[in-house]
Amino acid sequence: MTSTKKIAVLPGDGVGTEVTDAALRVMQVVGEQNGIQFELEKHLIGGASLDEYGIPIRDDVIEGCKAADAVLLGAVGGPKWDNNPDDKRPEVALLTLRKRLELFTNLRPIKVYDALAESSSLKLENVQGVDILVVRELTGGIYFGRPRFTEELHNDRRSVDTMEYKASEVSRIARVAFDAAKSRSQKVTSVDKANILATSQLWRNTVETVAGEYQDVEFENMLVDNCAMQLVRNPKQFDVILTTNMFGDILSDEASMLTGSIGMLPSASLGKGTAMYEPVHGSAPDIAGKNIANPLATIASVAMMFRFSFDLDNAAEAIERSIGKVLNAGVRTADLTDSDDAVSTDKMTETIIGELETITV
Ligand code: IPM
Ligand code: MG
Repeated sequence: MTSTKKIAVLPGDGVGTEVTDAALRVMQVVGEQNGIQFELEKHLIGGASLDEYGIPIRDDVIEGCKAADAVLLGAVGGPKWDNNPDDKRPEVALLTLRKRLELFTNLRPIKVYDALAESSSLKLENVQGVDILVVRELTGGIYFGRPRFTEELHNDRRSVDTMEYKASEVSRIARVAFDAAKSRSQKVTSVDKANILATSQLWRNTVETVAGEYQDVEFENMLVDNCAMQLVRNPKQFDVILTTNMFGDILSDEASMLTGSIGMLPSASLGKGTAMYEPVHGSAPDIAGKNIANPLATIASVAMMFRFSFDLDNAAEAIERSIGKVLNAGVRTADLTDSDDAVSTDKMTETIIGELETITV
């Protein structure tokens, strides 16, 4: 039986267009193999929307996402819009979507593929076998706290951001992390700055209470500065890292280098509304339009879509296995190799599809 899923596609800016096109091709193939037909609705967001409509995201785009079965997003931003006023920045599109779809959970798996362990800037023995899940709170903290303003002072200027968390926001994301740990290596490291910040003290107390409900899961607290250090010293000590919006943003970029390239990291944003899938990397304006961007992060995000939105673990695993096989065969985009045999975005995508087509379902 064939079912139809409606996908809101938001390519955004820079390499966002290329990597979403690549991921859509993979999605179609895997969909066909699993009896899913896709209805795609493409929308402009970020800089592309600013150029066309003067705002980073239109209301009907948000409504379109709400009505879809899943959202696939590329990336937003670029130098062209860097000096825009606050409400006219491309990043507003992303934050608005996260908030309006109530996507409070951001899952960022950091898995080192064997074939890429040597591409990491860290020593092979430290990164081989690394398998971390960063669970990042996505709709709270300093990204959304109010007040937020800049004011003129006598002979000076002053800006204020507000870091804010409610215990209810902390406990719901903590439960996601502990539940995830149960089907992994049963360990949660909660990362905060409780020696300084009130929000972190609330975070720590609340997470400790939730930890009490999960006696089988090993639990520890870690200060964020220490965590940044431990991630490069001995990343294999981590299973699930549970943390705030801003710390999760920073630590996931750091952790991406364990895998060889930020071009490898997928993500899923889950919550109350339609789930959203996007690569962790940005719009990479310097390499945009050249057909050289690594599409694997977005392709792996589609794998997460099959897993979380369509409940098709097998399809997700097929995509992930194909990525592993293609990397084992030595196929590399430019970010993954220093030699001059790098393949294009298209070629990488076609090789993945070729691999998927050898799988009989
Ligand atoms: C990310 C990005 C975004 C964030 C930016 C583009 C707003 O860096 O998803 O990690 O900070 O959340
Ligand atoms: Mg980031």
